[in-house]
Amino acid sequence: MCGIVGYIGPRDAQEVLLSGLSKLEYRGYDSAGIAVGDGQQIAVRKKAGKLANLAADLEAEPLNGSFGIGHTRWATHGVPNDVNSHPHTTENGDIVLVHNGIIENYLELKAGLLQRGHVFKSDTDSEVVAHLIEETYQGDLEKAVRDALHQVRGAYALVVTHKDHRQIVAARTVSPLVMGVGEGEMFLASDVPALLAYTRQMVFIQDGDMVILDDDGYRITDMQGQPVQREAETIEWDAEAAEKGGYDTYMLKEIFEQPQALSNTLLGRLKGEEGRVELDISLDPTSFDRIHIVACGTAYYAGMVGKYLLEQLARVPVELDVASEYRYRQPLVTDKTLAIAVSQSGETIDTLEGMREAKAGGARTLGIINAKGSSMTRELDDTLYIHAGPEIGVASTKAYTSMVGAFLLLAVWLGQQRGTLSRDEVARLVQSAHDLPQLVAETLSDERLARVQEVAQKYHQARDYLFLGRGVNNPTAYEGALKLKEISYIHAEAYAAGEMKHGPIALIDEHLPVVVVATESRLLEKTISNVQEVRARGGRVILLLSDGDTDNAQHAEDVLYVPRCDELISPIVNAVPMQLLAYYTASTLGKDVDKPRNLAKSVTVE
Ligand code: G6P
Repeated sequence: MCGIVGYIGPRDAQEVLLSGLSKLEYRGYDSAGIAVGDGQQIAVRKKAGKLANLAADLEAEPLNGSFGIGHTRWATHGVPNDVNSHPHTTENGDIVLVHNGIIENYLELKAGLLQRGHVFKSDTDSEVVAHLIEETYQGDLEKAVRDALHQVRGAYALVVTHKDHRQIVAARTVSPLVMGVGEGEMFLASDVPALLAYTRQMVFIQDGDMVILDDDGYRITDMQGQPVQREAETIEWDAEAAEKGGYDTYMLKEIFEQPQALSNTLLGRLKGEEGRVELDISLDPTSFDRIHIVACGTAYYAGMVGKYLLEQLARVPVELDVASEYRYRQPLVTDKTLAIAVSQSGETIDTLEGMREAKAGGARTLGIINAKGSSMTRELDDTLYIHAGPEIGVASTKAYTSMVGAFLLLAVWLGQQRGTLSRDEVARLVQSAHDLPQLVAETLSDERLARVQEVAQKYHQARDYLFLGRGVNNPTAYEGALKLKEISYIHAEAYAAGEMKHGPIALIDEHLPVVVVATESRLLEKTISNVQEVRARGGRVILLLSDGDTDNAQHAEDVLYVPRCDELISPIVNAVPMQLLAYYTASTLGKDVDKPRNLAKSVTVE
């Protein structure tokens, strides 16, 4: 977790560092800090809370200098306060560092350092590394960092500087790090958007790399100091695309970007005229007899839809696991397993480790991923990019619908290649997928938005919510509940509609809003029976129905309509009113929608 930045060049370092950190707050916002050097000394300023606190402080009293490092924190070791904020320094303040990751053997290292007389200021694991570097430092910062890191076990992207050197030394193991190459200036960051305002030339730093930046440019070495070659890539993302573009929040902007994001997911892969799907991956569609899907959070729910689609269309048995369980449960993997990671960031450590576990067992690996150049895309055999564009809002929206879109493509493609779908069935599904962006755009009409807003306002004081769905829309209920709890802090639980009677039915009373996904499907009648069970116990039913279904509307206190569509693509269409319900509930309650408390966008710790 955490976001880090570094800069060396002719500009005002404070400005560059703050600008970079503002794009990285999605990685954590428990505290922020920067260190700026002017050649003689390095000054550190850090503050608990969001970046705005630090920025206000710096505005009143700026730090002057043209090189420096910065950090935005998601607390792991040590509570979020000023002292535990990064950058961390040695006792004499000569060495300054920022760290993203976890030093696993920090207690052992700290015990040794304490014995040798070091005095610690913070409770963090990161400060330990500063002291280790101080011990090994004999005038050569690069060598000192390398020697210190040989003692360290764990995950890190580390950026270090020293008051006597106009130089920045960085290293990476597991946690992401990208270097921006400018003209006469160099940048470092955890992620590409932090640097887009300054350069499009980026080098993705790899595990085990060290980077040394100074006014002459950069060098990359391995941990033994041997030179390593890494190619710079040109990033085509528009910096504007990562900004709010006129919306109040990133989340709302990203909800509205879904038609475009889905078009991008499908682009070039749906061959409408031939009625076929073509994928830009090298996977042999017949090389496996089972699939394991591994993911966390929203991506897991996308995987839940994926399981349904893959089993139904490609007739391959699918197991689905949250990554933190998968990696430790000794999954039964063979060389006939296809392991699929689903991840917006491509950096979630549990998912990455889950894939390593699968790979070690002989599986072929495939990523359904958004972030270009992310760690997973570099390690997995294949990546089916979702092309949703940068997602900044912590609660995932467009990445979710695009992930489900990618699963649809994969399932149809496998069905087509493995012969489990007829030509006509493939052509019909290709047509349905082709209509998706337009259908999603229709769910965002002013009229529908106003309706969701009314419902959100009516129930915003509820203490709990229940979400129900069946079949391919069971995950829609789970994702709807997750969105609501993430950003409004209202407790929300999701259940398979048919399972409700085995427990949650006891919760139903006249205070409990129950959202039921009841759009057209072969299970609709059964879902409506479950709705009756809720009604009979006084529950307040909010039904999600297909346009025109006035018959079933009578079973609900409130109805949200969505455009009619093929059942297999309905989870994408139905996700939108769920996102909006959460969004408007949270905004009615005055919550910070883009930065919900305690969460982070990209979780690179276990
Ligand atoms: C965090 C985020 C979630 C996200 C999950 C998985 O918990 O808050 O929104 O779904 O990580 O992230 P990934 O980048 O792997 O999709």
